[in-house]
Amino acid sequence: MKDYKKELDASRIPGHIGIIMDGNGRWAETRSKSRGDGHKHGSEIIEPVMDACIELGVKAVSLYAFSMENWSRPKAEISGLWNLFEYFFNTKLDILVGKGIRVVHSGSLKRLPPKIKRLLADVVKKTAGNKKIFLNLCINYGGRQEIVDGVNNWLERRKDGEMFTMKKMEKHLYTAGLPETDLIIRTSGEYRISNFMLWQLAYAELVFTDILWPDFAARDLYKAIYDYQQRERRFGNI
Ligand code: IPE
Ligand code: IPE
Ligand code: MG
Repeated sequence: MKDYKKELDASRIPGHIGIIMDGNGRWAETRSKSRGDGHKHGSEIIEPVMDACIELGVKAVSLYAFSMENWSRPKAEISGLWNLFEYFFNTKLDILVGKGIRVVHSGSLKRLPPKIKRLLADVVKKTAGNKKIFLNLCINYGGRQEIVDGVNNWLERRKDGEMFTMKKMEKHLYTAGLPETDLIIRTSGEYRISNFMLWQLAYAELVFTDILWPDFAARDLYKAIYDYQQRERRFGNI
């Protein structure tokens, strides 16, 4: 494989990358392992990907870890995922925090297990002063719900006769304060968005790769950013 890292234009690194980390189950299946093993291996990829993003100067990474629709999975898989998140928060995340990562959460707090809610709140608070890069954990996240939550949040404070605007929408999204989403990557060969960052993706570049998330590595990130840099972003202009 070409050395894509060398080919990158340092002046056009995406500010905010969203990643739909898909394919853990299929990765496990081809190895006759359990889906839980697939998720475990998938969680190991987060640190090297964040390291590579920090090195390149990416300002924010949004990771899709659990969708609101994922509640439809078997109970055992879901509880395994919460255990894995807990383990991740208590081990890996501490390492990342030490590297200057600021953790934020996108998603609904309703229905989240209390332990996860507490761990999330703690790490968000603990890292609030960190400046190196945002790590936006999308847990119990739905793009449509994000928009509905944001509108309701605004409605609670609405003054008489006040109209809603795109600016106000942006201020009330979970991603308020994060840079514009430039690139969305989906692994595992699925060509869909699955309710991820619906508002933010309006002008994002989309990169799909067949690689299953547990096999994803820094080189695949460089390749995705390289592909992104080959695109001409016109934003409606000519
Ligand atoms: C993505 O991997 C992780 C989560 C949705 C939590 P999947 O579990 O969807 O893996 P596949 O799509 O079944 O291979
Ligand atoms: C999207 O993957 C959600 C996450 C990666 C967390 P899914 O595997 O849940 O999406 P679908 O069901 O294939 O659309
Ligand atoms: Mg999947």
